[in-house]
Amino acid sequence: MRKKIVAGNWKMNKGFQEAEELIEELISLFEEQEVKSEVILCPPFTYLEMASDYAQEGYFHIGAQNISPFPAGAYTGEVSASMLESMDITHCIIGHSERRKYFNEDDKMLTAKVNQALMHKLVPIFCVGEALPEREAEKHFEVVRRQVRHGLFHLDTNEFQKVIIAYEPVWAIGTGVTATPAQAAEMHAYIRTLITERYGAEVAEATMILYGGSCNAKNAAEIFAQPGVDGGLIGGASLDAEEFHSICKQA
Ligand code: PGA
Repeated sequence: MRKKIVAGNWKMNKGFQEAEELIEELISLFEEQEVKSEVILCPPFTYLEMASDYAQEGYFHIGAQNISPFPAGAYTGEVSASMLESMDITHCIIGHSERRKYFNEDDKMLTAKVNQALMHKLVPIFCVGEALPEREAEKHFEVVRRQVRHGLFHLDTNEFQKVIIAYEPVWAIGTGVTATPAQAAEMHAYIRTLITERYGAEVAEATMILYGGSCNAKNAAEIFAQPGVDGGLIGGASLDAEEFHSICKQA
């Protein structure tokens, strides 16, 4: 069985001191009770250095929430994959629906970000997921197929095997409405079928596919128990140490 992964996406939350307190609290909870799952924390850029120091204790990895599609140079305000590599950051969320929506990140830009990440040894946590009108129009498979193909299927097998996928139905993010366990299982199975067609069954079987969208300590166990769900990408519920630790325990 694949070891499950729980990633916490803090988004644009917490001041520096609060962020440090959250990490310290998490570490004491992990010390009290270790978890079997692999844990990844994705704080805002400004806290990455502090967080990566704490990661030395071995309880979690650190990921960024975004990277530049460009390698280096005159791109004011951007942070490159090579900068993150130089700070021992190991993961990077790419293509989160909030980036797609509020910052107009399209498939072409996300392809470039995935390439930058892999070039600099960052594991992309590549997000896909349909919006509510798309699900209502029964276009969810089509949307996710396009996102997965455009974002990832240019990779060769070796590169693709480094990627983590997160299925996050947009209508479930931050809304308190989760996909039903059956809806999550169905889409995860579909994504695996796409991977099988492109890279073969063995690669598909080994690919980590996380669920994200209003996952919390109360519903995590049921979602993580679904076939093909390899863990979760947690937003709101990752901002509280006890809640997040509880989610990690259930994976
Ligand atoms: P949420 O966010 O858990 O707050 O719904 C998930 C995400 O956006 O990754």
